[in-house]
Amino acid sequence: MPAASRTCIYRPTPVNVRRLAAALRRGELVAVPTETVYGLAAHALDPVACAAIFTAKGRPTQDPLIVHLASPRDLPRLGESNALVTRLAAAFWPGPLTLVIRKTALVPDIVTAGLDSVAVRVPSHPLFRRLIRAVGGPLAAPSANPFGYVSPTTAAHVRQNLGGLIPHILDGGPCAIGVESTIIDARDPDHPRLLRAGGVPAATLEKLLGQRLAAGPVIVAPDVAAVAPGLLSRHYSPHTPLTLHRRLPRALCLQPLPGIAVVQFAPATTAANHPNVLILSPDGTAATAATRLFSLLRDLDQAGHQQLHFELAPATDPWAEAVNDRLRRAASKR
Ligand code: TXA
Ligand code: MG
Repeated sequence: MPAASRTCIYRPTPVNVRRLAAALRRGELVAVPTETVYGLAAHALDPVACAAIFTAKGRPTQDPLIVHLASPRDLPRLGESNALVTRLAAAFWPGPLTLVIRKTALVPDIVTAGLDSVAVRVPSHPLFRRLIRAVGGPLAAPSANPFGYVSPTTAAHVRQNLGGLIPHILDGGPCAIGVESTIIDARDPDHPRLLRAGGVPAATLEKLLGQRLAAGPVIVAPDVAAVAPGLLSRHYSPHTPLTLHRRLPRALCLQPLPGIAVVQFAPATTAANHPNVLILSPDGTAATAATRLFSLLRDLDQAGHQQLHFELAPATDPWAEAVNDRLRRAASKR
């Protein structure tokens, strides 16, 4: 697909949903709202359209895409279910949980980077689900950011980064969760593996399953290391260097030097009254931090600071895993 010179943002009306469904069926890309982050969608069974996603994002083709379904009933066409998949889907779909399963021949190789597995989820964002239904087929969509940069949680973020490169953005408002879905490798029903922390806390999954999740991807060949999420230590990253702290040094919060911005996790008793000292989670929960993190990283990145300092979420909060995972990657050196 040729690069779009003009990018339109569409309000969430029934007419626009029909119009964008038609565009997707024609093989065009549409940036879509989900409950986690905005995605860049193409018809998942159209390999040419899916290839355009990689071009627009500057994403390596070894990094496979997530396929989004309107309903779990659509799963058998695309992949093999098992007892684990049935159980997790019943509990968490629609919602921010992605399951990696064995794929069927229907799924194009470009979607799965040639792997024999496919990542699928049923999103809960009502507008996105209406769009998938109107298309009448599954939609492949990675996050709608240039590869490696901070994920978008509003339509304006998508336009900032991909304006001029994609034709359509469907505006569904700010994303309710703010970090990406949790990814579970569910191919072996007895050994679920956590591939990426995200919208469903691992502790919630473990409680339902009554077992611990194994961590990290199984490396099946050297070049497959590149395809699994969580293996790219640097990701979701602002351009401004970022340093993490379990606890912020007091001096840093009281009097940050020029060019330095400091982000406390929660309001502190020793509240600093300085414009460059900010708070990630006003109510002190990591779930609230998740909704604000990517937006704040973008704002700070544009403010021209030389160095950012962030405080990690307290590990006792079930959402801390996803928030701290994104912070660690954002802080990781190039
Ligand atoms: O919340 C989300 O998951 C968002 C929204 C748009 O749905 N999507 C998203 O996609 O975060 P993306 O492409 O940014 O991250 C998907 C991750 C990638 O790191 C990719 O490596 C991994 O999923 N993935 C996809 N297919 C896989 C597979 N078959 N096996 C292992 N990992 C896979
Ligand atoms: Mg992404």
